[in-house]
Amino acid sequence: MYRHLVDELSCRHTLCDADMRKLISNTDDCDVSYLMEKAREAAGKVYGKDIYIRGLIEISNYCRNNCYYCGIRRGNDRAERYRLTMAEIRECIDYGYQLGFRTFVLQGGEDAALTDDFLTEIIGAVKTQYDDCAITLSIGERTYDSYVRLYDAGADRYLLRHETADSGHYGKLHPADMSYENRIKCLMQLKEIGYQTGCGMMIGSPYQTVDNIIKDIRLIERLKPHMVGLGPFIPHKDTQFADYAEGSAALTLKIMSVIRIMQPDVLLPSTTALETIVGDAHKTGILAGCNVIMPNLSPEHAKEKYMLYNNKAVSGSEDASGLSVLRANMESIGYNIVTGRGDCKRPGVKGMLQDV
Ligand code: 5AD
Repeated sequence: MYRHLVDELSCRHTLCDADMRKLISNTDDCDVSYLMEKAREAAGKVYGKDIYIRGLIEISNYCRNNCYYCGIRRGNDRAERYRLTMAEIRECIDYGYQLGFRTFVLQGGEDAALTDDFLTEIIGAVKTQYDDCAITLSIGERTYDSYVRLYDAGADRYLLRHETADSGHYGKLHPADMSYENRIKCLMQLKEIGYQTGCGMMIGSPYQTVDNIIKDIRLIERLKPHMVGLGPFIPHKDTQFADYAEGSAALTLKIMSVIRIMQPDVLLPSTTALETIVGDAHKTGILAGCNVIMPNLSPEHAKEKYMLYNNKAVSGSEDASGLSVLRANMESIGYNIVTGRGDCKRPGVKGMLQDV
């Protein structure tokens, strides 16, 4: 029984490595439900029963990177490539706005066509038309100057998963032209510039150990991101990790709860990868302490092609009727989907990261 560790985590918002290891690797069902209860309690104190929604728009699946786990990596010549036009992106946003979305996440591979000019134009146009909306970018590693330009154009938030906080492990998931150091540098720059910044990792990625996860947790403690994206690893058939087992939903949920208790004000999405393997319309994620859901607003042709992993769930919440089903599902567990930007309720901490 490890209830005392959950209590200690709730009190101190941290645990030593040995206790963290015990909590992550050994809890029985009873402890897990207690952990989730404490995570809901922590979320409730900051966000009440509110669930924030973000409209996800997958703007391009071209990518110059070759991450070994990812279905849209450059080397996958079976991936059918697409890139949305400015008009298509605007249409998705107009439609999402009518449905009640007030945050739009523009996500894509590292596509050379996503120039600063293209992005600043779209960000500027959307922010002028809808001044009550937030824009989140999730388009990978860029230069400091580019991050500044996009921020100045009106982008509010940036998601860039660190993927793993162990540089050796990072090297097993990525080719040599990518580096953990650069990923962290980008995250620090984003935060310093003033973005609400999100990092995150896959649970159960190839070669991941419990010690790797503890390192991820330590990174999150130091970086204090505004958002943390966590999902199980799911193999993609056209990658070298095709035959690896998918990550465990139970472990993913446990780590979500731990992160929520450690940083009660963090924005924690119940992710598409979790939904893909659990399939209960995000109820379990919310019950583990998540407070954000990101329905997919991409056009149908894009949704099929933005395949990061096998059988990616398409949430079914991307039209008006889907959204009302999601609302009903949340109400059935005592939560409410709210319309609004859904900002992180933590005062911004700029430029505090000397040696993350
Ligand atoms: N399984 C689960 N998540 C994946 N991602 C990429 N490939 C996979 C996969 N096979 C995640 C990465 C990336 C995010 C956009 O999707 O963490 O940062």
